[in-house]
Amino acid sequence: MKIAVAGTGYAGLVTAVCLAKIGHTVTCVDVDKEKINMLKKLKCPIYEDGLEELMVQCKNDIFYTTEYAEAYKNCNVIFIGVGTPEKEDGSANLEYVYKVCDEIKSCSRSDKVIVVKSTVPIGTNKKLELYMNNNSKYKFHFVSNPEFLSQGTAVRDTLNASRIVVGTNDNYSRKIMEELYRPLTKSPYNVPYLSMNRESAEMVKYASNDFLALKISYINEIANICEKTGANIDDVALSMGYDDRIGKKFLKAGMGYGGSCFPKDTKALYYLAKNLGYELKTVSSAIEVNLYQKQKLINKAKEDFGSLENKKVAVLGLSFKPGTDDLRESPAIDNVNMLLDYGAVVNVYDPISIDKFKKIYKNKINYYHNIDDTIKDCDFVFIITEWKEIVEYDLNKYKDLMNTAVVYDGRNCYNLDEVLEAGIKYYSIGR
Ligand SMILES: NC(=O)c1ccc[n+]([C@@H]2O[C@H](COP(=O)([O-])OP(=O)(O)OC[C@H]3O[C@@H](n4cnc5c(N)ncnc54)[C@H](O)[C@@H]3O)[C@@H](O)[C@H]2O)c1
Repeated sequence: MKIAVAGTGYAGLVTAVCLAKIGHTVTCVDVDKEKINMLKKLKCPIYEDGLEELMVQCKNDIFYTTEYAEAYKNCNVIFIGVGTPEKEDGSANLEYVYKVCDEIKSCSRSDKVIVVKSTVPIGTNKKLELYMNNNSKYKFHFVSNPEFLSQGTAVRDTLNASRIVVGTNDNYSRKIMEELYRPLTKSPYNVPYLSMNRESAEMVKYASNDFLALKISYINEIANICEKTGANIDDVALSMGYDDRIGKKFLKAGMGYGGSCFPKDTKALYYLAKNLGYELKTVSSAIEVNLYQKQKLINKAKEDFGSLENKKVAVLGLSFKPGTDDLRESPAIDNVNMLLDYGAVVNVYDPISIDKFKKIYKNKINYYHNIDDTIKDCDFVFIITEWKEIVEYDLNKYKDLMNTAVVYDGRNCYNLDEVLEAGIKYYSIGR
């Protein structure tokens, strides 16, 4: 099939490359010239395991352009994978999605199936279809096909997806989508294919993400009680996970979730429900707990040190989780902002995201490419992201290199006996 994908970000690019991998001819279009130039040279603009290799492998079946007409004119299916960030009031900003629709309409010379991969509020596909078919010579069929990939394992998550969810409103697009995804639903991939109406498909995405956010906030609250009672959250969570009604995943206590999805998708569903006259109390609690959790390290440091003015602090790990260079809503940003507000001198380290972080903070903080230099002569350390390099770091070096070996670990990276043995003053979450 000839397919176009609008938006070559974390979701769009992975979708495009995986569609090429299963035999389609794909043209990616993005407004970002720099990204498209890199892609044309087969250089991946984002850090995502295995993606660049797959781009190279599929190079004869995937094309990159900034010209809408080139992308949309000759294809029968167009995926929309542009951003839907949150607005100030918490609702989803659909301006980029509408922009792509306008571009598609102005370039189309035939009927199209438009597949919305971007996460959009329930009812959006129906609205877009009405908008596009108004005064149109051609027919636009809208399909909701939410994306469930997780950054860091995105290629694997797409080719071996837990499920493909497709919401359609007519037989024509239903058949096209079945054909498009047939290679993934057959051996060796055998991905379950779930067909439903568009509103249900749109809801599956929010309901899934918000459930995971709830699970994280729940275990974080249990961790907070563990701290006050002498229980150890690692033992508690591990034992809870053996119950397959609960499951092992998303039970790791820490300093809260970040990223481009959970924070905005919790707020968007809360906002949508509120507009329908329903208060989504579980989700609003998850949001509130997450805000509190992001401040735990700084509150503890203030309790221990009093003033943080002129304290020299190392922040280890900047991306919102390991395996990605994405800084959106990363707890590192909240914590560096608070440290700067309190007058601390901030050193930062990340194996992948340093250059992106530099674009935000410029010369306000100090940047390092290794942990030794970052922690040298520091008064305390914040661990924000559990990168392998940080988890496997030689604990004795904290004592050897720092002014005072005080470590506030927001990701429970170290064994409690080992930190004690290394002579570190150590605070982690729920232990
Ligand atoms: N990142 C994820 O892990 C993930 C997972 C599931 C779902 N999603 C959803 O997918 C959507 C995209 O998220 P993302 O993280 O990939 O965003 P992103 O910001 O990484 O990528 C969006 C891309 O769209 C491009 N763009 C903007 N306007 C355009 C236009 N008119 N034409 C073509 N390209 C245009 C931007 O330049 C950018 O490259 C969001 O709705 C998000 O909620 C993301």
